[in-house]
Amino acid sequence: MKILVIADIHGNAEALQAVLNKDGDADRTIFLGDAVLPGPQANETIELMKNMPQGINIFGNHDYEVVEPSLFDEWPPHWLAYNKWILDHFDQAGYDYMKTFQPEGEYEQDGIPMLLRHGYLSGGVRHLVPNTPDDKFVELGGGSDCRYVLFGHSHIQFRRTVNGQEFINPGSVGQNRCGRQAACYGLFEDGVFRHCNVPYDNRPWLEAIDRITPLHDFPEFLQRQKNGMITGFGIGEHEPWIRFSEEGYW
Ligand SMILES: [Fe+2]
Repeated sequence: MKILVIADIHGNAEALQAVLNKDGDADRTIFLGDAVLPGPQANETIELMKNMPQGINIFGNHDYEVVEPSLFDEWPPHWLAYNKWILDHFDQAGYDYMKTFQPEGEYEQDGIPMLLRHGYLSGGVRHLVPNTPDDKFVELGGGSDCRYVLFGHSHIQFRRTVNGQEFINPGSVGQNRCGRQAACYGLFEDGVFRHCNVPYDNRPWLEAIDRITPLHDFPEFLQRQKNGMITGFGIGEHEPWIRFSEEGYW
């Protein structure tokens, strides 16, 4: 049994295609949230998701914004323009597909009970990263006694054992933040997990974001998004991701 573990695609179809080209022969997929927002290839991403090995899709914070757009009402105007354009051009079939996503929770996969979470913690520490204190992982585990807790959201590939529980982040498919031009993901093969990555062609993404005409009113923001894609730092070079990049994380 081979299970593909992916998270944080963020509307990057070439990145997902590269993962599927390499390991699309998996028996199942566990998707840990953030499918299309904010990224310029929403419909293409959903088409690929529909054709990937079927398994379980968990809602991420940006997926809730697709089904309930009022969640981003208060965002700054450039982000509002970006999200609004994406959703205005999003096919009804995409909405229908995303409404089938499941809430975070305990799910058995290949006979192994797993806690599947997107990884968002409210208040204070929002992203779990390799140097986050143990108590935040315990909080993410939420009292579950599942051996595995799979989560995404921080866009860093790492794993950590706390009180005998294994916390695994497969990294981000479509928006790496550790300065590397690659789609990151993970595989469970016969119950053993490993991290993977694959390079992809970023040019179609860069061309797609250029076609979002409302962003031409925010040229600095548009350029920042493109720079993030080109450098492999996603939404920009920020700590703590710069440090993790230097430490060799993907
Ligand atoms: Fe997220």
